[in-house]
Amino acid sequence: MAHTRAKILVTKRVFPEAIAFLEQRYEVDYVATDEGLSSDQLSQRVRGVQAIVSQLTDKFNAGLIDTLDGVKVISNVAVGFDNIDIAAATQKGIFATNTPDVLTETTADFAFSLLMAAARRVVEGHQFVHSGQWKQWTIDLLAGQDIFGQTLGIFGMGRIGQAVARRGRGFSMRLIYHDAQRAPAELEKELGLEFVSKDELLRSADFVSLHVPLLESTRKLIGAPELAMMKPSAILVNTARGPVVDEAALARALAQGQIASAGLDVFEREPEVHPGLLHLRNVVLAPHIASASVETRRKMSMMAAENAAAALEGRRPPNLINSALWR
Ligand code: DGY
Repeated sequence: MAHTRAKILVTKRVFPEAIAFLEQRYEVDYVATDEGLSSDQLSQRVRGVQAIVSQLTDKFNAGLIDTLDGVKVISNVAVGFDNIDIAAATQKGIFATNTPDVLTETTADFAFSLLMAAARRVVEGHQFVHSGQWKQWTIDLLAGQDIFGQTLGIFGMGRIGQAVARRGRGFSMRLIYHDAQRAPAELEKELGLEFVSKDELLRSADFVSLHVPLLESTRKLIGAPELAMMKPSAILVNTARGPVVDEAALARALAQGQIASAGLDVFEREPEVHPGLLHLRNVVLAPHIASASVETRRKMSMMAAENAAAALEGRRPPNLINSALWR
């Protein structure tokens, strides 16, 4: 009797190695485009598959998840998984997996790039030269702010927060952090971290960098009241998730000089950016690329393929989020 191969949907373009790996084992329905699927198309295309390799643009809400009969795994090509209703997946007995670790250092590199670009006005400098405005060297031309020796405030001391702290140490920064859960004493000691309240962090930090997951408790973590607490010289960096910051409030704060500048990789309604941010000179904007080194994105693609394969083959997916499903 012919053995039927499991069917897997890949919702959007990934690195080709991942597709080659999956095609050796399964029947792959590959949506090889960058647009991916609309929510209607997604709800059609998931019918009859046993696994889904998804991306952060695919919204798996409780309604959609409830229709996923026979699906064993939703394997997200991202460390963040706020696009998947994990409680609903768990209820339905569907594994959800993500791609942690491989992107930690790459994302921290980019958070630091944004921090440095905003502090030292790199993008303004580029535009100034590029547009032919540079006529002479002057004493305070595009003078920015020091990074070395300043206070770095980190919200969220998970893997990426720690990697950012290590970079801050290299710049002899004072490192303060806030998290719902305080880090172990050994880690605080190793990295030279000071645990402070949210308000203390906002009041004391020269740089505030966000490394929290998007949860109900972190939505609009930084809004008008928080921005009002920050120093007028402070710089905000967001490589976490857009809705962690109230974008309208941030646009106002930047326009009014309530804080000095911001470096943003993520936005509330990607790919839309609040119009108030688009014309400011004191903001550096990037299109959600913090983990986008070629090698890291390749590894994320492969990791997602391997997580899906493990689930299909009855093994525990290495990066299982809803671990209560594995007993
Ligand atoms: C993630 O992995 O969650 C990033 O936002 C995309 O790399």
